[in-house]
Amino acid sequence: MSEVKKDTAQTGSVQTTGHAWDGDIQEFNNPLPRWWLWAFYATVVFAVVYWFFYPAWPVGDSYTKGGMNSITYKVGDKDVTTHWNTRARLMKDLQEGEEAVKQRQYMQKVVDTSYEQILSDSSMMQFSRSVGKILFTDNCAACHGMGGAGVIGLFPNLVDDDWLWGGKVEQIQTTLTQGRNGFMPAFRKTFTEQQMDDVVEYVLGLSGHEVNKEMAGRGGVLFNGEGGGCYYCHTKEATGMHSVGAANLTDGIWTLADVPGQKTIDAKREAVGKIISNGVNRQMPAWKDRLSPAEIKVLTVYVHELGGGQ
Ligand code: HEC
Ligand code: HEC
Repeated sequence: MSEVKKDTAQTGSVQTTGHAWDGDIQEFNNPLPRWWLWAFYATVVFAVVYWFFYPAWPVGDSYTKGGMNSITYKVGDKDVTTHWNTRARLMKDLQEGEEAVKQRQYMQKVVDTSYEQILSDSSMMQFSRSVGKILFTDNCAACHGMGGAGVIGLFPNLVDDDWLWGGKVEQIQTTLTQGRNGFMPAFRKTFTEQQMDDVVEYVLGLSGHEVNKEMAGRGGVLFNGEGGGCYYCHTKEATGMHSVGAANLTDGIWTLADVPGQKTIDAKREAVGKIISNGVNRQMPAWKDRLSPAEIKVLTVYVHELGGGQ
């Protein structure tokens, strides 16, 4: 290498700065490569243009907020115009970006399509599943749980295809739109202690528990007669009534009395007795003012599918 340099230096074809070390190590004075220079000028021009359009110039612990570029996005129904910044840019993207527009168009399609068609259209089902899941997580999971499994005694399970208010899409839509009030009177004062024990025995017998036949027999008379009047809401077959949200008592699925959680039959009796004594008054909130009709429709399809669909 040094041989070559020495040669060119000595022949004078390359300028040197005139410095020399150790006698013969010289410093060449080559011009900067042309491509490098042009690239450098380009970055200078870019920087000036950038300062002009975007807030970019540091001042103290902030930056210049001027800049020619502005962004307009919506807050509620109003248009807001602000200097260019990434936050406003994100807002605009969420409102007008390609994805957002596509999603809005799809939501409109959901509104315009009947449940029957949605349920048999795989791409619309896929859309409802993914958007429904987000809506459910945001609005419903706090009570019904992430997967919709609920909590016995508090919030009904939406996954089990057992419905208080009905599992048809129309019924689910009504549940979501108007909300539901699950109400059963307290029977604490209606029954004597013996009568209460008899009714509890009858109710447990309905779902196949080993019970005292004689007590259950007397309980059945109360259940299906004017003494208790339970059949008004639960029907004589005790299979429940969707129009009043009365639970099916024959299927071994419990929404209020935590029968499955109890080990002994006495504990099960106590769990059922507590509900009958105290009655029930619980509220599913109405969503018509909080969610759009399209969102309610998507959620209806989502919840319908969660429960296996009726
Ligand atoms: C504040 C708690 C709460 C929130 C939030 C809530 N729910 Fe409910 N939901 C309830 C309660 C309580 C019931 C039971 C009402 C009853 O006793 O009949 C219920 C009942 C239901 C039912 C009827 C179940 C059946 O068996 O018929 C459906 C469907 C339902 N909710 C779906 C939803 C969806 C979808 C959302 C989100 C948009 C939601 N819930 C948000 C508390 C809630
Ligand atoms: C006015 C209507 C009404 C009457 C009368 C009524 N119930 Fe109910 N019952 C309901 C409703 C509604 C529910 C579900 C509450 C809910 O949705 O949260 C329920 C729930 C229950 C449950 C809890 C079921 C579970 O899955 O945990 C039991 C047990 C029960 N009823 C027994 C009785 C008995 C016994 C009687 C008569 C002594 C009776 N009910 C009378 C409306 C009624």
